[in-house]
Amino acid sequence: MTPVLPPAPADWLAPQPLAQARALPAHCYTDPQAGERDRVAVLARGWQLVARESELARPGDHALAEVAGVPLVLVRDREGVLRALHNVCRHRAGPLAACAGSGLERLSCRYHGWTYALDGRLLGAPGMARVPGFDPREIRLPQARLACWQGLVFACLDEAAPAFAEVVEGIEARLAGVSLAAMRPERRVVYRVDCDWKLYVDNYLEGYHVRCVHPGLSGLLDVQAYATTLSRWHSLQASPLDSADALYGSGEALYWFIFPNTMINLLPGRLQTNRVLPDGPGRCTVVFDYFYAPGQADPQRVAADLAFSDTVQAEDAAICAAVQRGMASGSWSPGRLNPAQEQGVWHFHELLRAAWRGAS
Ligand code: FES
Ligand SMILES: [Fe+2]
Repeated sequence: MTPVLPPAPADWLAPQPLAQARALPAHCYTDPQAGERDRVAVLARGWQLVARESELARPGDHALAEVAGVPLVLVRDREGVLRALHNVCRHRAGPLAACAGSGLERLSCRYHGWTYALDGRLLGAPGMARVPGFDPREIRLPQARLACWQGLVFACLDEAAPAFAEVVEGIEARLAGVSLAAMRPERRVVYRVDCDWKLYVDNYLEGYHVRCVHPGLSGLLDVQAYATTLSRWHSLQASPLDSADALYGSGEALYWFIFPNTMINLLPGRLQTNRVLPDGPGRCTVVFDYFYAPGQADPQRVAADLAFSDTVQAEDAAICAAVQRGMASGSWSPGRLNPAQEQGVWHFHELLRAAWRGAS
């Protein structure tokens, strides 16, 4: 017998009202070509978390990043200006900076030795002085846009993208005086997850699954008071939090998602940032950075936090991998979203649909 599938919207790119919204079609998560569409239409057009400001505090400090496949070197020059230069030589695309560090005075290509100033100007090109029509003054490394905010550094490849201040508008007011910049970095943990990057984000954006998937976490949050607030470019999930003093104590759990792939998770005295990066079809890498308020990073607390978070992450990774297999099975067509508990997912999908429409 042929299975009866629920109807999917005829035009999956069209905006959907929340009350009628369905999940995105499976092909958005499973089609190998969807990765290139996401890279061009979404990831290359949005602001992405790329570094901490404290790594780049002094002239010559530099760090590497990659945004939508474009390698960047973030570097502060002698005048104190921070830039995000494309880390690709203008001669024949050779590699420039190889690693993060300090004391950088210029960039040198490791292929044929062209050199660049820290503002991207070409300084030298060995053996090229007499080449007809070759003018080094016309050559410079392209730059991405940069924004420093709350001790975090964001970059964007697209000149037409909104100003960063617009993207994070409203978040500082909700921080109510908590300084993310004052939090000290403590640990980085990198996870590889067997699902499309958007599926990982979808899962993050709703508390609907917490009761089924996270028995430990659901005991700390107040599911009745769990609330999602939508803004233009970000969403916030907030819940009262009650945990042992040795873990987070009591207060509020605040989970911000900044489109397209940054998460800011704030618990009392502790910040965790997540970056969700595509890693080939049906796979993603998630970078977790842990920070603590001054005096809050005692080793036992950090260990308890890492162990608890690791359990939650393992639960999420397992369910996301299972959902990815469900998407790929051919059995499924998009089901209805829960308007009261999956509005963050809908909001993300609306932003994705708008980005994909813009590129089509
Ligand atoms: S590719 Fe950089 S000098 Fe040739
Ligand atoms: Fe989860």
